[in-house]
Amino acid sequence: MRAATARTDLSPPLSGDTPPNSAASKGVLESNMATFVKVAEVSEVPPGRVKVAVVGNQRIAVCNVGGTFYAIDDQCTHDYGPLDQGELEDHVIECPRHGARFDVRTGAALSMPAVVPVKTYPVRVEGNAVLVAVEA
Ligand code: FES
Repeated sequence: MRAATARTDLSPPLSGDTPPNSAASKGVLESNMATFVKVAEVSEVPPGRVKVAVVGNQRIAVCNVGGTFYAIDDQCTHDYGPLDQGELEDHVIECPRHGARFDVRTGAALSMPAVVPVKTYPVRVEGNAVLVAVEA
């Protein structure tokens, strides 16, 4: 995947002089490989907290680690546990079902019983909006 900040020349800006019914006015930005979708207001996800966003049929856990946002699939790779219900401590989230731990920065599985990484998504913050890149 290309850099999360990549945009096509046709992509309109997110704020400012955005046309009222454009994709950008609806919280959507497109890049060459992905579409950035607004998933939360910054204030909705305080440091150390997780918020689930549903984008299409994907449940994405948006994590705030000391003011930096990360996004991962909200589904444990061991047995589909809801990661947003687990504890987030620093950059590590623990699955509430059997205790597998994942690095929300990379998706890496850090402890058993999970051995497969969880999917991560590029994140950017535009003003007060948290945007996650999902494949179009
Ligand atoms: S479902 Fe997450 S550790 Fe088993």
